[in-house]
Amino acid sequence: MKFSIKSVNPEKQRSACLVVGIFEPRRLTDAAKAMDKLAEGYISTLLRNGDMEGKAGTTLMLHKVPNTLCERILLVGLGKEKELGDKEYRDSIRAAFKVLNGTGAADAAVFLNDVSVNNRDIAWKVSQTAIVAMESIYRFDQLKSKAEEKKPHLRKVTLGVLNGLQPELAAGEEALQQGLAIADGMKLAKDLGNLAPNLCTPTYLAEQARDIAKAHKLKVTVLEQKDMEKLGMGALLAVARGSRQPAKLIALEYWGGAEKEKPVVLVGKGITFDTGGISLKPAAEMDEMKYDMCGAASVLGTLTAVAKLGLPVNLIGIIPTTENMPGGNATRPGDVITSMSGQTIEILNTDAEGRLILCDALTYAERYQPEAIVDIATLTGACVIALGHVASGLLSNDDGLAAELLGAAERAADPAWRLPLWDEYQEQLKSNFADMANIGGRAAGTITAACFLSRFTKKYRWAHLDIAGTAWKSGKEKGATGRPIPLLTQFIIGRALKTSPADLKRND
Ligand code: BES
Ligand code: MN
Ligand code: ZN
Repeated sequence: MKFSIKSVNPEKQRSACLVVGIFEPRRLTDAAKAMDKLAEGYISTLLRNGDMEGKAGTTLMLHKVPNTLCERILLVGLGKEKELGDKEYRDSIRAAFKVLNGTGAADAAVFLNDVSVNNRDIAWKVSQTAIVAMESIYRFDQLKSKAEEKKPHLRKVTLGVLNGLQPELAAGEEALQQGLAIADGMKLAKDLGNLAPNLCTPTYLAEQARDIAKAHKLKVTVLEQKDMEKLGMGALLAVARGSRQPAKLIALEYWGGAEKEKPVVLVGKGITFDTGGISLKPAAEMDEMKYDMCGAASVLGTLTAVAKLGLPVNLIGIIPTTENMPGGNATRPGDVITSMSGQTIEILNTDAEGRLILCDALTYAERYQPEAIVDIATLTGACVIALGHVASGLLSNDDGLAAELLGAAERAADPAWRLPLWDEYQEQLKSNFADMANIGGRAAGTITAACFLSRFTKKYRWAHLDIAGTAWKSGKEKGATGRPIPLLTQFIIGRALKTSPADLKRND
């Protein structure tokens, strides 16, 4: 699907389907008013006759409306004007594209940014439209022997800006490119997450990283098991022992910023399947543990988006990747291993494997002398209990970095919520036999997991995103979500602008 943005009035726009909004109850937006006037009251008559109320998420398709240059007009309900918030706006865009994808229209002109959404600027509305529209055409059918449904006809989408002034249009154009780059990154991450775990192995992830590096001129390094042994990555290798698939540590480097500028490092958990190891998980929904590499996928997606936009930043992605399997050579509960940092760990539960592969990757990251590190991981079931499927968990040893990430989350409509990382919680990780245990009991499971990681990140500003509840959906709509790529990409965009977190807040 090709997108463009243009300053034009709807009555002048030729298209197979023109999309305008209707507020509840039966109130026309400016774009709808313009069309109604041209059609000599055709639309307002329909509303008066009770054909559409304007409730959020409802739609009404009109064909061959008199006097107009378009073949169809799609009316999209926006709900009550005063209540139009992020969610309602995104829901309306989603509803519009769902209908558009089901019609024969090959092109559409969308006039839905002439409404005010609780203080969001035009750039926000444009990038959200691109992201939601691209999401609406996402299908994962590469593993079906026959295509299930016809591909949508829609090829070309014009985002119309009413009375667009030059600066506004330029901001809209930039936002469109950002939205499309984010959508691309999300598609990549969804494909990797949804791919079956017999296919999406550590070796496959390394191949993907090599392809991405080639396409976007990044530097790529893949460490093999023998390299990791030399570096003393005993924690990562302890997880890999039970698997037939060789573990990898992938590093991608994007140097788009000034030479002397220290890079931001993203570290993504890449467990391509988590059985729990010897501490085997129960059978129910175990298939969803193919999504345990969604942190890794979000790092690849974010690097792709940032490289595509050519942002003037230095950004490194590090991905420790392995399966967590209960093979004959697997790590046992009670084993004590030595991490790359030299700290020893008593592995009391082999299902707490994410922190083990991450801790060595976090130590490895020191060689980049990072400005800041953010790790992203489907780390704890406890995070799903605490925050559900709405917000990602955020824990950090630096208030400034945490504020910056929360600001980016807010701007990107990809919410995160901070949990405390107080010293009092560290006590739960005490071991009688090693420097620390790899689990801290049932209480505050997300926090003790982050406490574990914090022992390997003392040298730099670090934040941890627990995406266990947000990286994928279960049930009928099972599938990867592409989160938190919007948050991460917005965070890097903010850094490229070199503005303070306060300035990143919405500004109209
Ligand atoms: N990958 C899981 C976390 C997870 C579980 C994410 C369910 C989403 C849904 C992680 O490796 C894990 O197994 N964590 C354990 C930690 C526990 C043993 C301390 C958990 O959350 O139960
Ligand atoms: Mn696990
Ligand atoms: Zn896991």
